[in-house]
Amino acid sequence: MSTDRRDGVNRGLAPRTYGQGERPPRGDYARARQDFTCEQRWQDYTPAEHALYERLYARQLAQLQGLACPEFIDAVEQLGSPTHIPRLDTVSSRLERTSGWRLVGAPGLIPEEAFFALLAQRRFPVTDWMRRPEEFDYVVEPDIFHDLFGHVPLLFNPTFADYMQAYGMGGLKAARLGACELLARLYWYTVEFGLINTPAGLRAYGAGLLSSAGELHHAIVDPAPQRLAFQLERLMRTRYRIDRYQASYFVIDSFQQLFEATALDFAPLYERVRSLPALEADSILPDERHYAAARRCLSTSVITPG
Ligand code: PHE
Ligand code: FE
Repeated sequence: MSTDRRDGVNRGLAPRTYGQGERPPRGDYARARQDFTCEQRWQDYTPAEHALYERLYARQLAQLQGLACPEFIDAVEQLGSPTHIPRLDTVSSRLERTSGWRLVGAPGLIPEEAFFALLAQRRFPVTDWMRRPEEFDYVVEPDIFHDLFGHVPLLFNPTFADYMQAYGMGGLKAARLGACELLARLYWYTVEFGLINTPAGLRAYGAGLLSSAGELHHAIVDPAPQRLAFQLERLMRTRYRIDRYQASYFVIDSFQQLFEATALDFAPLYERVRSLPALEADSILPDERHYAAARRCLSTSVITPG
């Protein structure tokens, strides 16, 4: 995409995405402001779209117990009525009181620098369109259900909220260093597909998992994927796929650990990672610490060092 100017100013163009996938981004970028935010046209949602939201919400809510981290479960009701697509302004005022974050509308995925700039200001862009009924089970790109249900509950958590802002500031720096692709892997394997080890067993905190019908269960319970202890350099070397269930997940012990492990200066890390070969999403290396899949219906799970 040689026409994709990467300065975070809207020219009506869809952004670059890094993960390996087959489709161009979707959304009407011409109606966005210079900073890529846009009005949420709440009146324009159809009854069928509200009903679809209600069905998605009910299905996800029903499977949170034993799969989602407790911080998420505690905050999910802050989204308000489960029967209608929420107004961003309403959720935003609750969020602002709790963690100082605000929600802003967006036409879809936005260019990295525009995205980082918003996060650095504690503003989270929420895609305003709803998936189509035939995408009930799987949508490649984030829609309003993914962005709200998946991302917003954890923004009520003070430590995670601070991590997201630090990520935004780190993104602006990565853009100067030409390292956005490497930093994007951190977002992918934490904010989108992260797992956390709790006293009750492995749980999901990543938004891509929490908003997914099938992958939430896959990530926690299925024996197929590997679950690696969070290790920043290993993670940053690992490519990802945006159009299928993940082959590898990374497990943190706490949001505090995540915040502290990412506080160092990434400039030397980017250099080191660039000097090493990238790893495929399903790469298996010797001597890594693995977590076993959680066993369904048990309140504890066993950690097996690999
Ligand atoms: N510490 C990172 C840097 O120096 C910034 C960052 C913080 C990135 C948290 C991601 C998450 O670039
Ligand atoms: Fe997301």
